[in-house]
Amino acid sequence: MDLMELFFISLGTAVIVCYGVKLLLFSRILFPKMWFPLSKSFFTSMGEWAVVTGASEGIGRAYAFALAEQGMNVVIMSRTKVALDQVAKEIGDTTGQKVKVIITDFIQENVFSEIEDQLRDLNIGVLVNNVGVLPSYVPCKFLESAELDQTITRVINCNVKTVAKMCKIILPGMEKRRKGVILNISSGAASVPFPLYTLYAASKVFVERFSQGLQAEYKDKGIIIQAVAPFGVSTRMVDYQKTNMMTLSPEDFVKSSLQYLRAGDKTHGSVCHILLGWLLQSIPSKVLYAEYVLHSLQDYVKKKAAQRALNATFENHKNK
Ligand SMILES: NC(=O)c1ccc[n+]([C@@H]2O[C@H](COP(=O)([O-])OP(=O)(O)OC[C@H]3O[C@@H](n4cnc5c(N)ncnc54)[C@H](OP(=O)(O)O)[C@@H]3O)[C@@H](O)[C@H]2O)c1
Repeated sequence: MDLMELFFISLGTAVIVCYGVKLLLFSRILFPKMWFPLSKSFFTSMGEWAVVTGASEGIGRAYAFALAEQGMNVVIMSRTKVALDQVAKEIGDTTGQKVKVIITDFIQENVFSEIEDQLRDLNIGVLVNNVGVLPSYVPCKFLESAELDQTITRVINCNVKTVAKMCKIILPGMEKRRKGVILNISSGAASVPFPLYTLYAASKVFVERFSQGLQAEYKDKGIIIQAVAPFGVSTRMVDYQKTNMMTLSPEDFVKSSLQYLRAGDKTHGSVCHILLGWLLQSIPSKVLYAEYVLHSLQDYVKKKAAQRALNATFENHKNK
């Protein structure tokens, strides 16, 4: 065999191995249930209770339901008593699990000692730090945000401070029992610097770095800490966009994301959102941040929001 032949055989082998490994890694995304199986009793083996912030609707409500369906009792938290009581009733009726309601406003200062008192005697196995605020569904520049001072407080208190404070309250019990799961809900918007949603996206970068650092610190204590970063999920936050291949219902997203629980310290939580994450990161920033692209995004969302508002007015009129 001459040197040239040897070179081409080695090159061919390297390419096959390289693509083989890529295919194997890709199969982890396509078949999470096979790669990261969870036993039926996985969640209940973590503890008796799951705590979900921002659980009166949307993704938080779906997590509360899914965890109750797995046999956990759930603590659900948000600002609106009527909505929480309704969710509590639905979860209780459907699953037979206990539901504890905590009414709180995470924007306010000093709410955490009362929350700590209310959670004190519970054996908490799962925490879902879900509550999050998007300053405005219609994208706009930082200085153009309405009531900027209040917006900054809302975003920092809900998206950043609450995540750290809830971990401070619940992590010690998990550390003592040497088990537990903490899911911190980030956003696909944290994948790259995200103009026109700058404050929101930056707050979610905190969620990701915080989760990843914490996971490294507490992995040897048997605690799983993961940042979950969805793209589109049809909820109030995004004006109930129509569901499709890319925009999932909260229930479908949560069902899928729980299958990636053991897939590392960060996941986009569903095949389509993982692919979207790759795509977004591969777009050159010159293209992504071009004035034309940003304007088009703004116009597109504005038009969609206006159309939805018009449809809602029409529906209201029809129902009168
Ligand atoms: N939907 C998406 O496309 C999407 C994409 C990426 C990431 N996310 C993230 O996913 C998480 C959940 O989003 P979502 O779309 O389900 O939101 P959502 O539909 O707007 O629901 C937010 C929940 O948080 C509660 N909440 C809001 N402000 C609160 C406050 N100050 N204090 C206490 N509770 C508060 C709301 O209830 P009350 O109003 O009754 O308080 C509600 O239960 C967020 O962290 C969000 O950033 C969502």
